[in-house]
Amino acid sequence: MDDKTEDSLECLVAESLDAEAELYDCLPELLADLDELSVPTEVVLDLIDHAEVAPGAQILDLGCGKGALAIGIGSRFGANVWGIDGHPKFVDAAVESARIAAQETCSFRTADIRQAVFDYRGLDMVCFVGIGPIIGDLEQTLATLRRCLRPGGYLVLDEAYLSAPKSELGPEYEHCFDRETTLARLESQGDRVCAEALLDTPASDQFYREATEKILARARAIAAEHPELASVVLEFADRQRAETESLGGPLVGALWLLRTPSDTNPRP
Ligand SMILES: C[S@@+](CC[C@H](N)C(=O)[O-])C[C@H]1O[C@@H](n2cnc3c(N)ncnc32)[C@H](O)[C@@H]1O
Repeated sequence: MDDKTEDSLECLVAESLDAEAELYDCLPELLADLDELSVPTEVVLDLIDHAEVAPGAQILDLGCGKGALAIGIGSRFGANVWGIDGHPKFVDAAVESARIAAQETCSFRTADIRQAVFDYRGLDMVCFVGIGPIIGDLEQTLATLRRCLRPGGYLVLDEAYLSAPKSELGPEYEHCFDRETTLARLESQGDRVCAEALLDTPASDQFYREATEKILARARAIAAEHPELASVVLEFADRQRAETESLGGPLVGALWLLRTPSDTNPRP
């Protein structure tokens, strides 16, 4: 990786995966055993079941990683899905998975979401799952994403909330919100929350534990082969494990399905 400025695409890609920038080049190897890079695809697809998605619907999956969600949407709903990701090797993996799944309604390209998001208008749905604040805080992210939609279009995104009062929690939760505030923020631009899916379930817990084990095995292999990366790659695996252990804590992972009003045009 050459460009190490903090807001370079490479840094943002690494950050979205909670990795140090110097791990950018080995991310494909580190995550080689995972198809899904943030949340279980089935949970997102079950959430999308609450939307009206007709065959041929036009859907954008921003930060599609290796394409698991895009391919899942294509298969379950017969939609046309465009997947965009900033890591070319993840995009290569997505193209290959779509080919193997014979999923011809999915296409993928390498691009920076921060620019690519302005290329789309009139879509039926935009997915923005596991990406973080790369286009701003929740309100800025919603404002940007909803411009891609037709009236009555859908947004799918993750936003965690606190299950305990802030006054009982440490400073690390200072910037988090309770569920009621999160709902109000999600609906602050006139959109309606249609459905919510929690990520702190026994099935998700199992998913994260298995993913953590696979990452740890890869991290050890990379550390053995590249001693100069050993500490940083093993710390990455440790962080993944700590995150998995923290499931069930006061921060509840949640996915949301929002619908824009059908009687107004997206804001100019
Ligand atoms: C945690 S992963 C989630 C991947 C996928 N949505 C999933 O749920 O499996 C975050 C993804 O966002 C991509 N990403 C982060 N910042 C990006 C940017 N500015 N432009 C394009 N892709 C980006 C990363 O390459 C990575 O694949």
